[in-house]
Amino acid sequence: MTDALVIFTPSGKRGRFALGTPVLTAARQLGVDLDSVCGGRGICSKCQITPGYGEFSKHGVTVSDGALSEWNSVEERYKSIRGLTEGRRLGCQAKVMGDVVIDVPPESQVHKQVIRKSATQRDIVMDPATRLLYVEVAEPDMHEPSGDFERLATALRDQWQVNGITADLALMRRLQPSLRKGDWKVTVAVHRGNHDAAPRILDIWPGFHDGGLYGLAIDLGSTTIAAHLCDLRDGAVLASAGLMNPQIRFGEDLMSRVSYVMMNPGGDVEMTCAVRGAINALAISIAAEANIAPTAIYEAVIVCNPVMHHLLLGIDPVELGQAPFALALSGSLSLDARELDMGAVNPSARVYILPCIAGHVGADCAAVALSEEPGKSKDMVLIVDVGTNAELLLGNETRVLACSSPTGPAFEGAQISSGQRAAPGAIERVEIDVVTKEPRFRVIGSDIWSNEAGFDAVTAITGITGICGSGIIEAVAEMRMAGLVDAKGLIGSAEQTGTARLIPEGRTHSYVLHDGSAAGGPKIMVTQGDIRAIQLAKSALYAGARLLMDAIGIDTVDRVVLAGAFGAHISPKHAMVLGMIPDAPLDKVTSAGNAAGTGARIALCSVAARNAIEATVGEIHKVETAIEPKFQEHFVNANAIPHATDPFPELAKIVTLPHVSFNTGGGGDGGRRRKRD
Ligand code: FES
Repeated sequence: MTDALVIFTPSGKRGRFALGTPVLTAARQLGVDLDSVCGGRGICSKCQITPGYGEFSKHGVTVSDGALSEWNSVEERYKSIRGLTEGRRLGCQAKVMGDVVIDVPPESQVHKQVIRKSATQRDIVMDPATRLLYVEVAEPDMHEPSGDFERLATALRDQWQVNGITADLALMRRLQPSLRKGDWKVTVAVHRGNHDAAPRILDIWPGFHDGGLYGLAIDLGSTTIAAHLCDLRDGAVLASAGLMNPQIRFGEDLMSRVSYVMMNPGGDVEMTCAVRGAINALAISIAAEANIAPTAIYEAVIVCNPVMHHLLLGIDPVELGQAPFALALSGSLSLDARELDMGAVNPSARVYILPCIAGHVGADCAAVALSEEPGKSKDMVLIVDVGTNAELLLGNETRVLACSSPTGPAFEGAQISSGQRAAPGAIERVEIDVVTKEPRFRVIGSDIWSNEAGFDAVTAITGITGICGSGIIEAVAEMRMAGLVDAKGLIGSAEQTGTARLIPEGRTHSYVLHDGSAAGGPKIMVTQGDIRAIQLAKSALYAGARLLMDAIGIDTVDRVVLAGAFGAHISPKHAMVLGMIPDAPLDKVTSAGNAAGTGARIALCSVAARNAIEATVGEIHKVETAIEPKFQEHFVNANAIPHATDPFPELAKIVTLPHVSFNTGGGGDGGRRRKRD
């Protein structure tokens, strides 16, 4: 026998190989995903495999004890120093001596799948842009003069099939000492380049180096900047952190920031500096949290809306503030981190920015599409990324449409009388008894309701400080369900509703949710102005969804996905009572958590995913809400709670909304006419 059958699992790939062929070589020839950093020199242990022995009827082979070469001294040395699980071999050392079945464990696969930890996390197939490669470089020869870099490039070509490697000047300066210190053996971090860009060496270490390669997935929002620090070798999230976008001082929402630029020459530069500084600060703090050096961060992927995109890049966003909302550029970008003043991370680090879909629909929406994959959905799905600017995707495997809608910051607690950002002490859940009209609530940081024992003790620490976005949505929806607010959004009086919690404020009324004034705390109320602000925000959101539904020619959707950090906290029932989202069976309204952040993480871990979303973005059809004549009509109809004209049959199955009317100009008896549907 001169050759033998080698079968790899779980891939099922098989082939015949000459006796004596290393398993790693066989794997490479068959395209089996078996990792290696040292190129088969028995140093890195990335190539671990588990041979199977005995009868494999499924594969039609019997594997004898001598199917692989004997355990050798390299493996023994590795096992004694670093340890090797019983039954494992090093694929570069074990040679094929007979028919054999070889299992490649997940940790030895380059394209390993990162298994999701919760329902909101997508599985990711690892395909990182940056990898560590160990190379042995030819020594200089006076008779054949060539540069050390050229010989390193040749070694990378011959040993790793990396062609046309490049490096920046800073790295060139470190090249010679590294090569000599490592006795002409070095490990390099190689970024494979995007599209036409050449592969590039990002870092170099003498000898074999197995240090960490880390990346940042950044969701750059108008209000908050959130980041995950990921291990680029296995996709693990080592730390997550967020901070406020410092641009808030220039304007709460995007258009006010564009106006700031229009009215203040140089304002764009100020905002660019502010956001870049914040990203740097975030990189430092997240690295500290994960106990790594910020310079071990070699890559970042950033997703953001178009205005943030331009301000980050230092491009004046003025054109985005007026029709036809032209982007300076919409394609993906691969940059040096230092071009974005990201001085905290590795000096050679690379940044990838996802493509924008259109002038109002940014790379953050592309990231949501990458994470949620509406284009692969069999049923008609509406994905709503709720933020200061809501972004919506509607579609299925046939076509996907996108739009954005200017909801404003009300859903984040801004423009609300007692509003605050989601933080400990903020009211986040509200229930109002339909008979007594008495509320009970929960604050962030505690699971205890306000009418339960222990609530006072818990809130003694945090206080009851205000009401956050999810809290105001629940409060308004509960007020509607309890008959304290009518379909037009008017709050009734104490007399009309029978509760002293409704107090007059000028010509309108407010509902006292919590009065902490006796103890020096705030009086937390829901005012008529609050309800108006929520109505405007939810009308914009619904009108955007309706426009997309018109464009596809449907009146209902099969399911709704609420994305965004805020979306994760919205109660689907209350969102539907308000008419924020179209009617759908309640169990078909789900939360995807921070889908834009997840999309950023997928792109960070996978070049294939970057390529996929670049192709997908070209196929997503953009609907421009700002110039669509029907938007206004949809907006006006959506002002009612839940809606003036659209039926909500699924909602009606679970909630009966009281027929009340508090229109002061309408005779004033409406409040007493509280019959139910
Ligand atoms: Fe590095 Fe086998 S390939 S130890």
